[in-house]
Amino acid sequence: MKYLPVSTDSLAQAAEVIRLGGIVAFPTETVYGLGADAYNPAALVKIFEAKGRPRFDPLIIHIAALESLEEAADLSLLSGDARRRLFLLAENLWPGPLSIVLPKSGKIPGIATAGLSTAAIRFPANEAARSLISLSGTAIAAPSANPFGSLSPTRAEHVRNGLGDKVDIILDGGCAQIGLESTVLDLTEASIKILRPGGTPKEAIENLIGPVENGSPVIQDIAGGDAANFHNGFSSPGQLKSHYSPKTPLSVFFTGEISRLPCEKNAAFLFFDDSSRDLWQKSHTEADKNPVIKVLSPSGKLSEAASCLFEALHELDSLKVSRIFAQFAPEEGIGAAINDRLKRAGS
Ligand code: TXA
Ligand code: MG
Repeated sequence: MKYLPVSTDSLAQAAEVIRLGGIVAFPTETVYGLGADAYNPAALVKIFEAKGRPRFDPLIIHIAALESLEEAADLSLLSGDARRRLFLLAENLWPGPLSIVLPKSGKIPGIATAGLSTAAIRFPANEAARSLISLSGTAIAAPSANPFGSLSPTRAEHVRNGLGDKVDIILDGGCAQIGLESTVLDLTEASIKILRPGGTPKEAIENLIGPVENGSPVIQDIAGGDAANFHNGFSSPGQLKSHYSPKTPLSVFFTGEISRLPCEKNAAFLFFDDSSRDLWQKSHTEADKNPVIKVLSPSGKLSEAASCLFEALHELDSLKVSRIFAQFAPEEGIGAAINDRLKRAGS
C-alpha cells in the first residue's frame, strides 16, 4: 500500500492503478471513497473483498463531467418528467453531495449495482476526486472507504486504520469538508424518494423539483439482510440499521432528555452545541466522575456539526470510553442526515 498526499504525481499514479484494475482510496467532499474502474468487474470484486461488503449492496458510480452521464445511465428509460427533474438537479446541485438513482446503462456490470437495473450516479465536487476520475478516463465506482458497517472515514488516517494494506494507494487530501455521505435520491419511480439523507438537504432538492418523500423506514437489522430481503424490503442498504457504527455503545437523546442524564464513570457526552453542554454542566457537579465531553458545534451550526460528527465518533472510539451519550441535532437541513447517522450508530 502506498500512502501519498494529493499531488499531480500521486494523482497520475492513482489513475494508473485504476486503469490497471486496482483499488484507490481518495478524498471526496463527503467522506473518503474506495474506488475502482466502474466498468471492470474484476476490479469491483476487489472493493467488496477489501471492505467485507456483501454483494447485495450496490456501489455509487462517480463521474467527473456531465458528458459521462449517459455512458453510465440509460436516460431513454426515464419519463419526460423524470428527465426534466434530473436536468434541474444536475444543473443546480452537481457537482456536489447528491447521488441520483437512474436506470443503469448496459456498460455498468451487474456486480456494481448488485444486480439492480438502476445505478446511483454522483458527480463529486472535490477537486482531487474529479482529477482522479478524469485522469483514469473512466467512471469510478466507490463506496465509503471503511470496513462494511463501521464508521465512514473523513480523513486518510481513518482509511489507513480501517483498511490498510487491502488498498493499493491511499490519497491523503486532508479532512473531508462535509463529513457525511451524499444524499441518495431515487428518480426512477413515480414518487421521488430520498433513500438516504446526506450532504444535500431535502429542502434544496424540493426547492427545485417540488415535494419528495423519505425512503421506507428501516424494517430489519443487518443480520437478517440477505440478498432476497434486500431486494424485497430495502430500496437502499444505507437504510440498514447497524450501519455507521462506532465500536462503543451509543445512545441518542433529545435536548430535554440529555440535560437530565446522570454523570456516568468512563462515559462520554457528545453535545450538539455549547448551550446544551452548559445546561448539562449546570445541573451536575460530580466532577470526580468527570466524563469525556465533546461538542459538535460550539455555536450550533449544522454544517460544522456534520463535518465533525464521524471525526468525533472515531476519536471517542479511540479513547475507549464505556458508552457514548449523544444529542440529536435540530431536524432541519443537514441536521436530518446527522440524526439519521446518530440513530444508526445507536442501533
Ligand atoms: O458520499 C458518498 O456517497 C460516498 C462517497 C465516497 O461518494 N459514498 C458512499 O458509498 O457513501 P456507500 O457505498 O457507502 O453508500 C452507497 C449508498 C448505499 O446506501 C447504497 O445502497 C446506495 O447508496 N445505492 C447505491 N446504488 C443504489 C441503487 N441503484 N439503488 C438504491 N440505492 C443505491
Ligand atoms: Mg458506506
